[in-house]
This record gives sequence, C-alpha cells and structure tokens, in this order.
Amino acid sequence: MARPELRTEVGIVGAGPAGLVLAHLLHLEGVSSIVLEARSRDYVEQRVRAGVLEQRTADLLAATGVGERMRREGLVHHGIELRVRGRGCRIPFDELTGQGITIYGQQEVVKDLIAARLAAGGEILFGVQDVVPSHFDGDEPRIRFRHDGEEHVLRCDFIAGCDGFHGVCRDAVPAGALRFHSRHHPFAWLGILAAVAPSTEELIYAWHDRGFALHSMRSPQLSRLYVQCDPHDDPNAWPDERIWEELRLRLGREGWVLNEGPVVEKGITEMRTFVTEPMQYGRMFLAGDAVHIVPPTGAKGLNLAVADVRVLAEALVAHYRKGDDSLLAAYSDNCLPHVWHTQRFAWWMTSLLHRFPDDDGYRAALQLAELDYVTRSRAAATTLAENYVGSERVVPL
Ligand code: APR
Ligand code: PHB
Repeated sequence: MARPELRTEVGIVGAGPAGLVLAHLLHLEGVSSIVLEARSRDYVEQRVRAGVLEQRTADLLAATGVGERMRREGLVHHGIELRVRGRGCRIPFDELTGQGITIYGQQEVVKDLIAARLAAGGEILFGVQDVVPSHFDGDEPRIRFRHDGEEHVLRCDFIAGCDGFHGVCRDAVPAGALRFHSRHHPFAWLGILAAVAPSTEELIYAWHDRGFALHSMRSPQLSRLYVQCDPHDDPNAWPDERIWEELRLRLGREGWVLNEGPVVEKGITEMRTFVTEPMQYGRMFLAGDAVHIVPPTGAKGLNLAVADVRVLAEALVAHYRKGDDSLLAAYSDNCLPHVWHTQRFAWWMTSLLHRFPDDDGYRAALQLAELDYVTRSRAAATTLAENYVGSERVVPL
C-alpha cells in the first residue's frame, strides 16, 4: 500500500548530539525538521559516550532552554590535574582563561534534547531501517527508509547527515567528491564506569611508564576511568582486578587512594583520527562524527559536533529567513578551520600522554620535557587551558 509522503524542510539523519542540537536550534528559529534514528530511544538515551562540555557548549544548551537539568546535575570544573609518575600538577582553567568545563554525560544531553523536541511537538522517528538519502545533487532531496515494517519517503529541502562515523550519508555522496584523512593510532582506551564516588574533584590525566590513564567521572556516585591498552586487546583479557591494578599503578600518588567499586560497564575504544573535506555536497550537509573523529584525549568529539551544527543552523536559518545561501555555500569552509584546530589539540594531548609501543625512550623523554614545561610555564599552561575549555576558537560565531 502506498504511504502518504512525508515532507519537512530539513531531513536529519541521526539522533546523536549533532542531529538533536540541529533540530532544536532550527525549531527555535521556526525551521521544520524530522529526525530519523536507526536505534531505539532507550538505546540512544543509555549509550555511554563522552562527558565533558566546553563552556561554550554548556552555555549554548543553557541559553536555548535545554540546560536546566545540566545546571542542577552537571559538575562544573575549573581545572584538571596532570599527574606524571606520581607527581600532580593542576592546570587552573579559571585563573588562566576565566572559563571552565561541565561534566555531564552525553546521554544526559541526548535525553534532555529528545525530551525538549518531543515536548515542542518535534518529530523524531526511532528504529528506522534502510535509510537511503538521494537526489541531494538537485533541488528535491529525499530520504527513503523503513519504519514499523512500512516503506516511507521523506521529501525535504536539505539533508543533514548527522549519522555518526558508521552512518550512510557520507557514503551516499558520489565517489571522488570528498577527500578523507584517516589515521589509526597504535593504542586504545579500555574504559570502565564504576559505581563508586570519584577519588578526585577534578579530572586526572596521567602519564606513566606503563601507559596513559585517566580518572573522570559522571556524578558524585559514578566514576569513569580509562587505561591505555593495545587496540587488539580482548576486553576479556582485562578482568576487573587487572584494570584496578593498572589504575592504581598509573594514577598512584603518595597519600592518595583510588576508590574502587563495582564495574557497571566496560569497553575498548580504538583511537583514530578522521577528517572529511569538504563537509557538504549539493544539498547534503554532513556534521559531527559523520565527517570527523578526534582521539578522545582532549574531550572534543561532542563539542566539535555541536560547533558544526551551530554553523549549519545559522546557514539554514539565513536561507529560510533571508533567502541568503552564502552561508550554506560556505558551511564547510567555515567549519574546517575549527575542525583542524581541534584535531591538532586532540593529537597534541594524545601524543603528549600516551606510551608509543615502538618508543626506544626518545619520545618518552620528549614527553616528560614537554609536561615539565606545560606545568612550569604559565604561557604553556594557558595554551592547554584555552584549548581544553574551548575559549580559543576559530568558528566564526
Ligand atoms: N540511519 C539513521 N540513524 C543512524 C544511521 C542510519 N543509517 N547510522 C547511524 N545512525 C545514528 C546512530 O545510531 C546515532 O544515534 O546516528 C547517530 C549518530 O550519533 P553520534 O554517533 O553520537 O554522532 P554525533 O551526533 O556526530 O555526535 C558526536 O558522539 O561518538 C561521540 O565522541 C563522539 O561525542 C561525540 C559525539
Ligand atoms: C569521559 O569522562 O568520558 C572523558 C573525559 C575526558 C576525556 C575523554 C573522556 O578526555
């Protein structure tokens, strides 16, 4: 049976932070959208991902009416600690930049955005299958998909490909139109979520001969911890006791005790760098993980996704409000400088703190010299701080 056709102004593929923030910003400016999400609502609301919001990201959520729970439950931090072979040094973000970060899980941001969209009558279709974007090289893009066993076609003026690294939108662009930069790094992170109070008020990034470790958190009752591991490691080779042992060793500092508790989630994240240029083709605009992946050491993935869709929302609003397409044409050019700045910082943090498997000691010595400099020199610490909080930014907003 033929289904009635769906129609909207912007067809958005993916209900991660990129797709949901875009739908929300467009709605506030009176531009309609429909979000198509492959997973269930429950799945996207429970998926454990990033957790650090730059000041600008937190400010945007608050200013657009989706920051109330974040303000109540988010943890505002004014610095981080770099811990090197058992010696700690704090980088005071507030003193160096006047800004801070908010610790608030990505899935909490996603929950708040979904609730806001649905309360405002917005349409998000969860559990869609076989999404096929097409006709975006002309004026009448469409997105075919299946939902509840029925075939549908969504007609729209523009498609926003916000479907993450494994999505379909990037691959729908004709071969040769996009250029990719891709690197796999020779290490990965084994991450755990532990039902125990964090052992620290602020995040600890640790350099250690045995490899990198990170102590982060989600709430006063929930710790998020990572240890550098081999990308080919099997999570089963990492029983809980081995993880705690490595964390104790790598994070250890005299007089400091690591709180241990039940591990409620465990997983290995490979580390890669990926950039797509340009981030658009015809009436298809790509944003977030669909077009770039940063190694997680600088905590930038979510913030970069939000930065993209701010630029995209402004460009789409200029199209609908003023009939001005210049910002749409310049979308990619306006995003990519910030994407590359962010890649540079994420790689700098990553290469500063991780043990390289092929290192004969030369790289480690340089890392220690650089860490010494970063913790001694106000100029060097400011460089880290302004990049981490995101006050140094090239997005033209
Ligand atoms: N059709 C519909 N939805 C899809 C499809 C598809 N074919 N493929 C993927 N998706 C959905 C995924 O299920 C996911 O919910 O697209 C969404 C993409 O969301 P994210 O992967 O969270 O990407 P993005 O919104 O760009 O946010 C980037 O996510 O991975 C973290 O660290 C990263 O914090 C960063 C953030
Ligand atoms: C996290 O809390 O998951 C987290 C924090 C800082 C990072 C990466 C991940 O750099």
